[in-house]
Amino acid sequence: MANILLLYSTNFGLSRQISERLQANLREQGQRAEVAPIADASVDPKAFDAIVIGASVKHGKHNPAVLDFIRTHQPLLESKPSALFSVNLVARKPAKNTPQTNPYLKRLLAQSPWKPKLLGVFAGELDYSRYGPLDKQMMRFVMWINKGPTDPSTKVKFTNWSEVDRFAGQVAALANGRAA
Ligand SMILES: Cc1cc2nc3c(=O)[nH]c(=O)nc-3n(C[C@H](O)[C@H](O)[C@H](O)COP(=O)(O)O)c2cc1C
Repeated sequence: MANILLLYSTNFGLSRQISERLQANLREQGQRAEVAPIADASVDPKAFDAIVIGASVKHGKHNPAVLDFIRTHQPLLESKPSALFSVNLVARKPAKNTPQTNPYLKRLLAQSPWKPKLLGVFAGELDYSRYGPLDKQMMRFVMWINKGPTDPSTKVKFTNWSEVDRFAGQVAALANGRAA
């Protein structure tokens, strides 16, 4: 049984929910798993057998705290089984929903000195009711360009939860030294 740390960076809560779903799934598999925000100074990543980082995209970028954490903890991340996943709306498109095809994960990896063995991409959520006027306008414009939903009452989670569960299986395998 491995003790797995699931760190998240979120703006609207979905990356935390995905980390919690991974936690529940890992616990069902008999693993130990803790969820914490990436900037939580009270969590000691050294105390865990494996580390998973999950982060969402806003205005084309992951939160800079993600790369800060990676740079600060690079040797630790490289010394343990570790994984990274990105949450974004572009990943709702089948042609952009893998680590090899998602532009945001590819860019983050290009900037990251740590190259995790296991990578994931999950489609995010669109909920205009939660955005301020400027973000709402910008997101509706982006969706219009991309032929996505522009109705201001749209509230949709594109996340494929079976993919999240499959990723949990890969994390467990990696953390326990089996091929992911
Ligand atoms: C203001 C704003 C900007 C966003 N920018 C992007 C973007 O540039 N590319 C993208 O694919 N998704 C973008 N998204 C979609 C988010 O990645 C998606 O809503 C995700 O579910 C957010 O996850 P979180 O709740 O963990 O922050 C944006 C969302 C908002 C509200």
